[in-house]
Amino acid sequence: MKDWYFVTGGAGFIGSHLVKRLVKDGFKVLVIDNFNEDYPSFIKRANIKEVKKYASNDKLKIFEGDILDITFLEDIFNNFQIKQVIHLAARAGVRRSLKFPRSYFEVNVIGTINILECCKKFDVNEFVFASSSSVYGGNKKVPFSEDDRVDTPASPYGASKKSAELILSTFHDLYGINITSLRFFTVYGPRQRPEMAIHKFVRLISEDRNIPVFGDGTSGRDYTYIDDIIEGIVSAIKKVKGYKIYNLGDSRVVLLKELIKMLEELLHKKAKVEYLPYQSGDVAITYADITKSKKDLGFEPKIKIEEGLKRFIDWFVQKEK
Ligand SMILES: NC(=O)c1ccc[n+]([C@@H]2O[C@H](COP(=O)([O-])OP(=O)(O)OC[C@H]3O[C@@H](n4cnc5c(N)ncnc54)[C@H](O)[C@@H]3O)[C@@H](O)[C@H]2O)c1
Repeated sequence: MKDWYFVTGGAGFIGSHLVKRLVKDGFKVLVIDNFNEDYPSFIKRANIKEVKKYASNDKLKIFEGDILDITFLEDIFNNFQIKQVIHLAARAGVRRSLKFPRSYFEVNVIGTINILECCKKFDVNEFVFASSSSVYGGNKKVPFSEDDRVDTPASPYGASKKSAELILSTFHDLYGINITSLRFFTVYGPRQRPEMAIHKFVRLISEDRNIPVFGDGTSGRDYTYIDDIIEGIVSAIKKVKGYKIYNLGDSRVVLLKELIKMLEELLHKKAKVEYLPYQSGDVAITYADITKSKKDLGFEPKIKIEEGLKRFIDWFVQKEK
């Protein structure tokens, strides 16, 4: 019986939360991750250690390897009856993608094709993909809707996610693989990647160090709490059919200067802000229209930014002890 869920990037921030949730719910999970050093791999190993507390060995298997290694992938597809792929492994982060565009395309596009090829070869026909709000680039019309044109991503990262969506759509048309692409909007919460704004700002403010602000603080982001994202992914996992794209966001825009003010209040500390020029690749705003994901997935974000930041800081303080 096909009953394994193949989660790529399962040692990462979102992946480790998802795997924990799936094993707690009784799913059988294969984790594939190369534990790369985009941020320190010991963090990813600690994530896996945490997740392992919730599953027995016969329900959770961890594989260390690269999605660019076809033999590695085929071995796993050959040895396990896989029901569904949840593909989260990627090189993430906008700014770094300007430095490493080729590597971003290799991992995010060719890596995705490798897994699709395995799905085709081993008859796996359910696939959930982690896409990104970055595909919307500098679109002016807000909130961003799944029907909007996404032909002008502002960074190689956004372009790689858009390209992956294109090849997913092609594999759906050619081979009938059911595919859901989820466009995540800035996800935060415990275990968030250390270079992401909220995590970085909390760390720097706590250490009395300058926080870099690119631009004048009026750029806006739609921040989505990790538990809400996980609810959205789990719902998508249960409903994958056809070829669908959904936004998963909180659908509220928080300006950078508002975010800093909230963090100052929660940390009881004044931030030392260092204003720097706008960075190319960055966009002025992200803002999700979630009408479609609400309707089809029952997606209903529950954790407002004030509460989410509080939870993040609690986790951060605990971790630093
Ligand atoms: N965090 C966000 O705000 C956000 C927003 C939009 C989209 N996403 C997407 O969600 C997914 C997860 O993001 P995250 O924040 O958890 O990032 P993350 O870096 O914590 O997780 C990605 C994981 O993939 C693994 N990985 C990278 N390249 C690999 C390769 N070649 N082979 C095998 N494993 C590899 C990494 O080691 C890492 O553990 C990514 O696809 C990302 O692009 C995240």
